[in-house]
Amino acid sequence: MTASRRALALLLLLFSVSGCAGRSAHPVEKAPVSFVARGRSAVVATAHPAATAAALEMLQFGGNLVDALAASSLAVGVVRPQSTGLGGGGFAVLVLRGADGELDARAFDFRERAPRKATRELYRRAPRDASLFGALAVATPGLVAGILEIHQRFGRLPRQRVFEPAIRLAEEGFAVYPGLARASARMRSLLERHPESRRLFLPGGEPLREGQRLRQPELAATLRRIAAEGADGFYRGPVARAIAEEVRRLGGVLDEKDLRAYRVVERPVLRRAWRGFEIFAMPPPSAGGVLWFEMLAMLDAAGLDVSRLSVARRAHLLAEVMRRAYEDRARYLGDPDFVDIPLERLLSADYAASRMSSFRPDRATPAPVGAASLGGVNTTHISILDAEGNAVAATETINYAFGSGITVPGTGVVLNNEMDDFVTRPGEPNVYGLLGSEANAVAPGKTPLSSMSPTVVCRDGSPFLVLGSPGGSRIVTATLETFLNVVLLRMGLPEAVAAPRIHHQAFPNRIFYEAGALPADARAELERMGHELEETEPMGDVQAAMREADGSLVAVSDPRGDGRPGGF
Ligand code: DON
Repeated sequence: MTASRRALALLLLLFSVSGCAGRSAHPVEKAPVSFVARGRSAVVATAHPAATAAALEMLQFGGNLVDALAASSLAVGVVRPQSTGLGGGGFAVLVLRGADGELDARAFDFRERAPRKATRELYRRAPRDASLFGALAVATPGLVAGILEIHQRFGRLPRQRVFEPAIRLAEEGFAVYPGLARASARMRSLLERHPESRRLFLPGGEPLREGQRLRQPELAATLRRIAAEGADGFYRGPVARAIAEEVRRLGGVLDEKDLRAYRVVERPVLRRAWRGFEIFAMPPPSAGGVLWFEMLAMLDAAGLDVSRLSVARRAHLLAEVMRRAYEDRARYLGDPDFVDIPLERLLSADYAASRMSSFRPDRATPAPVGAASLGGVNTTHISILDAEGNAVAATETINYAFGSGITVPGTGVVLNNEMDDFVTRPGEPNVYGLLGSEANAVAPGKTPLSSMSPTVVCRDGSPFLVLGSPGGSRIVTATLETFLNVVLLRMGLPEAVAAPRIHHQAFPNRIFYEAGALPADARAELERMGHELEETEPMGDVQAAMREADGSLVAVSDPRGDGRPGGF
């Protein structure tokens, strides 16, 4: 890593170490009870109480899960401008029960795409942080198109209705909560560079304060316009013009033509039967599903009973499985519309067995030490589950805290910095420490590889567990560990979500662990096995919902974050 990249990484590490969005130092410090909601009809978990309320409002007034998803996606973008919003994108996995009683599973990719003029040369002569901050970091936003398309096809309520909670929140404002106050303080120097971001998120030149009211009237007007006009209200006309103008003014390449050309892609959902469960996950350009399934197959190949292993042996097994999967991520994964991914091979039992042939139950596999990595809780996830056997999971983001840092004047739209999820300079890691190959190089119209893992797990023909998380590279491991806690360690959902996590992403060759995850004796044993260890800030902000054995529903918002679940 070059000196300037290291300095940048350090700067960002400082941001994230002190907690990107109001997380406690220890994951289970807060009383878990307020992070759990139960229901008989439907439950919702999101990263902000107002987004959960928006979803419940739809469900209780005649809407279905997709109406709830649309309303909460729009609302969470208003109250978490540091995480997601109209200037971002996302993925959704829907498992809906058809009139014939059969489950219909679908995956939607409404992630940002590289602008037409974004080539692999784009960052060669640009400042080193150009893929992360400012106009060259911005990819064509997909959230508006995604939410509108999914809603139009599967929602029940009129479009205008699902916009109401978000418009209210933007117009009337909401009380700044600790995570937002901290994010604005931490990203102060970025926000200061852009007058509109400064005006909104550093009022009077100072970071937002907890309890202060944040009103976003320009964003309310943009939301109203989209509610009235549909996708054209964002991708054409004054909003598109304002976005393109601001990007051009700041030296970026995204233009009106890119916005007009944006298309949502419905992709075949990635699906796998595993130990009595049927798992529906996000396919590439997310790494989420592929890595989940590779890790599960490698666990099978190891042939060990995870529930009987000591803490150290379990962490060792998980870490070894994780690092192998992340090596494959770096090597093979990218946008499937641009590169051939050997999916069948990567997901086969034979391949898992061959990957695990170097696994020793008592010794770390030697590997080179790579780049530093960062987590964070920007990005957001929504999980909704109902008693009729419908489930939706959506993870949405503008990437790093406040994305590119640009708020487009007159629109309230904060633009993403999703271009940093590409390999912008060969051999150099992105902000999450992720390396990659040619498969994830920049190309016009291409979608950057993601870790977002919206996932629905079914059992006995019905959705059983719905989950997802922010956390950059740590998303896949945070969600998989939550699942394994439930199904292998038989934890209840609240415990499974709160349990301290570990993470290994191959580069660097190190087990990251949260406070409480590895007691001293386990750490000593892991070090004896040859593992390097690093205690890290809380990882992820899982939002999950589950059907209990008696048919009742439970939703859990990670105690690490700002969310509150709801149900009825
Ligand atoms: O798509 C991805 O993998 C990243 N853009 C997600 C970013 C994220 O989770 C930020 N929060 N920590």
